[in-house]
Amino acid sequence: MDLKKKLFEEIKAVESLSTLSFAKSHSIPHQDVVGALKSLEMVADGFLKTEISQSHSLELTSFGCNLIDNGKSPEFALFKRVEGLQGGVHRKILQDEGLFESFNYAKMLGWVDMDQNQNVISKKEVEEDICLLTLQKLAIDPNLKPSSLILNILLRRKALKKITTKYFIVQKGPNFKFNLKEQVTELTEDMIKRGIWKDLSFKKYNFIGGAVSGGHLHPLLKVRAQYREKFLEMGFTEMPTNQFVESSFWNFDALFQPQKHPARDAHDTFFLADPAYCSKLPEDYMQRVKQTHESGGGTGSLGYRCKWSEEEARKNLLRTHTTAVTARMLKNAADMHPFRPVKYFSIDRVFRNETTDSTHLAEFHQVEGVIVDYNLSLGDLIGILHSFFLKLGIASLRFKPAYNPYTEPSMEIFSYHAGLKKWVEVGNSGMFRPEMLEPMGLPSDVRAIAWGLSLERPAMIMYGIDNIRDLVGHKVDLKFIRETPICSI
Ligand code: PHE
Repeated sequence: MDLKKKLFEEIKAVESLSTLSFAKSHSIPHQDVVGALKSLEMVADGFLKTEISQSHSLELTSFGCNLIDNGKSPEFALFKRVEGLQGGVHRKILQDEGLFESFNYAKMLGWVDMDQNQNVISKKEVEEDICLLTLQKLAIDPNLKPSSLILNILLRRKALKKITTKYFIVQKGPNFKFNLKEQVTELTEDMIKRGIWKDLSFKKYNFIGGAVSGGHLHPLLKVRAQYREKFLEMGFTEMPTNQFVESSFWNFDALFQPQKHPARDAHDTFFLADPAYCSKLPEDYMQRVKQTHESGGGTGSLGYRCKWSEEEARKNLLRTHTTAVTARMLKNAADMHPFRPVKYFSIDRVFRNETTDSTHLAEFHQVEGVIVDYNLSLGDLIGILHSFFLKLGIASLRFKPAYNPYTEPSMEIFSYHAGLKKWVEVGNSGMFRPEMLEPMGLPSDVRAIAWGLSLERPAMIMYGIDNIRDLVGHKVDLKFIRETPICSI
């Protein structure tokens, strides 16, 4: 008979049953009995009435077992050492002999005491080693109840330990049935066809666990999704920005950024140690870039009029701006024959070796847009910036002349912040220089207008965060990530 059935039969027969004594009388592990009980409880609501209870028993520790093997408790050994000796034995001597540690217990038993001179003396006649005897008896019958003094001593001695066992008292519930049908776990086609399902008893579902929470987009990625949508609505194509490691060539040289520029310093840029250099660069194009840097290379510019180093250009780094990707994409556009106008955007991560503070991190996101077409002008740039920012809900813009090594003219973009009641910088923009476009091989009447902004800054404003570390990094509160709604731009 299986355990569940056995338990059921017993519950049927008696008024009330303890799982512990059931386990003992059938020599079954108590845990298995509890398992069978749980599955009987599932038969129906109110099938059984159970109540949890506890029982305490005593168990000998390995120290307790050793005492039995030694045939003497330390207390008794101490007593025997000083028994009947005139003036007792001095505490120091007992300490040296390793007998003194049981003094307190032997004293509690009333066997010994200490005089003013710290001599331990015996107090009375002791015939039997009651500690040892108790342990021996408990080894045979763990249910024995020793006197509280002895129990206390043996527990404090760590010769014994108390074991608490949780068990159940089981009685028949209001919906108890004397006839236990085998429970069916699966409803089959056959049961339905033959109509036998009506008479079957089905096992109840046991739903465990709480609600499962799905994944959550980081607020920054929610803002990114919104920017992406605006660009796509305006007919822009996303650039592939999955390459964080770039060569200095694409990050700086292709953009006509001089090799002596302070941004190319290790204080501002993270250079790679391994591999330190990039092995693949387009040879012809690189030669044209070199000439443009050194002498203008026929663009009408004078260039920087100093030696251009290929080794410097091959240095690998973590891209400092997404304009490195823009440079690659413009070169690809130039390689297409015939040339066709393009509109590209990107939103991805860039890296700068900066001191971090509440508004700066060493890595952040840039939003970048670029349009390449015949005869574009600064007016086109201003116009597109107006329509782009209008889509973001920003109606008034101001521009301030600025400097970028790769754009001329260049403009910083400001918008009026009603909350802060002042004009705040929202981006940077410009027309790419001929020194950048011509070596790529773009037709000479093709112009490129571009702009860039950070993703974190507007996200912080939108979510009302004033410390960037609350938005990005390991200190971010996960509850905030889980609960931030999509923030509409
Ligand atoms: N690359 C610039 C920056 O890092 C942004 C920019 C992009 C400026 C395109 C002009 C044109 O700030």
